[in-house]
Amino acid sequence: MMILRLPTIRDEADLRQAHRELELDGSNFLLDGFQGDETPFDEYLIRVTDSLQGANLLPDRVASTFLVAEVDGEIVGRSSIRHELNDWLNQFGGHIGYAVRPDHRMRGYASEILRQSIVLAKELGLHRILLTCNDDNLGSIRVIEKHGGELEDKVDDNGRLLRRYWINNS
Ligand SMILES: CC(C)(COP(=O)(O)OP(=O)(O)OC[C@H]1O[C@@H](n2cnc3c(N)ncnc32)[C@H](O)[C@@H]1OP(=O)(O)O)[C@@H](O)C(=O)NCCC(=O)NCCS
Repeated sequence: MMILRLPTIRDEADLRQAHRELELDGSNFLLDGFQGDETPFDEYLIRVTDSLQGANLLPDRVASTFLVAEVDGEIVGRSSIRHELNDWLNQFGGHIGYAVRPDHRMRGYASEILRQSIVLAKELGLHRILLTCNDDNLGSIRVIEKHGGELEDKVDDNGRLLRRYWINNS
């Protein structure tokens, strides 16, 4: 069974490792301005909890909920649920971002992360959810379309084509 939960200080080693894995994969795991080894983990956790309340936000950021996905005591992925859209999120970032650690892929974890995130988004009052993914990200396209994502358009994101999908969450 998967649970989505807030990260704690006990997760530091795991999350730093997950972040390195995703960076090697051309993506990222920890958000909110996390700069790898330069970022003290306790400060990062404060940013995560502040972000939940919309407090002390970094420039151009909105309030967001960052959760780790745990299966059988192991962190397998993460979700970030943005409480609203700004111009950049409306065009490129979307409401929900997720990632699964490379060794844990193709087991339905991203699908489950998105399923649970959609429920949480509803509790935050989000009744239409924007999701974006690269036009060649077959895994993410499948995950979004499985959850009812309807393709709005494809936009240019620095030379890469990005898909924008809406999920009705009413
Ligand atoms: C995209 C990503 C989240 C998929 O995670 P995952 O846990 O492997 O996905 P799931 O196991 O839930 O797969 C869901 C579906 O997509 C398919 N799928 C997953 N990865 C795939 C791939 N690389 N190519 C083709 N299909 C893929 C699965 O077969 C499954 O299909 P099914 O429901 O018909 O069985 C993961 O590869 C990842 O974290 N990538 C880097 C970060 C990223 O791209 N995040 C999304 C940003 S929009």
